[in-house]
Amino acid sequence: MNPDSRHAGSGVFISLEGGEGSGKSTLMGHLRKFLESEGYEVCETREPGGPPIAERIREILLDPECRAMDARTELFLYLASRRQNVVEEIRPTLKQGGAVLCDRFLDASVAYQGGGRQLGFELVDRLNGVAVEDTFPDLTLLLDLDPGLGLARGPGVSDENREKGDRIEREGSGFHRRVRQAYLDAAQRSPERFVLLDATEPEEKVAEAALAALRNLLARKP
Ligand code: TMP
Repeated sequence: MNPDSRHAGSGVFISLEGGEGSGKSTLMGHLRKFLESEGYEVCETREPGGPPIAERIREILLDPECRAMDARTELFLYLASRRQNVVEEIRPTLKQGGAVLCDRFLDASVAYQGGGRQLGFELVDRLNGVAVEDTFPDLTLLLDLDPGLGLARGPGVSDENREKGDRIEREGSGFHRRVRQAYLDAAQRSPERFVLLDATEPEEKVAEAALAALRNLLARKP
C-alpha cells in the first residue's frame, strides 16, 4: 500500500455524500467523464445497492411499508449492503487499478443512523470498520445543502407532501437537520479525506471545485 492510500488497491476510490436532493448524480457524471479522460476504467456504484444482493437489501431499506424497522436493524442492513458492495465491486475495481465512484458510502451511516437516528458516531464508526475493513475512500466529496432546499428538489417531498418519498425521505425536518450536522462533524473529524462543496452554487461551479480536488488527489498518486 502506498503511504498516501487508504486502501490496498492501486486504483482511486471517491465517495459522494450529502443530504436529499444535493446534486450527487449530476456531479457523478462530471467526475466519470474526467476519470475516463485520464484513462481510468470507472465503476459507478451506489449505496445502499450496487451488486444484486445489495440492491435487494436496498428495496427493504427504502420500502415505506417497513415502518416498524428498528434503528439498529436499519444500520445492520446498510452495513450488510456495504459489505457486499465492497467485496463484489469496490475492492476488485481498486485492485485492478480502476476508479470507484460511489454514491454514498460509510459516512452516510454516520450521518443518517449516527446523527439522524441518534445512534452516535462511535457505534457507527466501529461497525463501519467491521464492514469495510481496510477499504476507505481516498476522497469524499460532501455536497452541503440546507435540508429544506434539498427536499424541495426531490419528488415532492416537502413537509406538506411527504407521503411521496421513500422511507428515509419521509422523516421529519429535525431528522434531516441532524443528518446535515453529522455530515459536517464527520468532515471535521477527517479533514484529510473530505472536501466540502456548497451545493447551492451553480452546477458548473460545484463540478469545478470537485474536479480540482480530484486532480489534486491524482497528482499525489505515485
Ligand atoms: P438514495 O440513494 O436514493 O439517496 O437513497 C438512499 C437513502 O438511504 C438516502 O435517504 C440516504 C439513506 N442512507 C442511510 O440512511 N444510511 C446509509 O448508510 C446510506 C448509504 C444511505
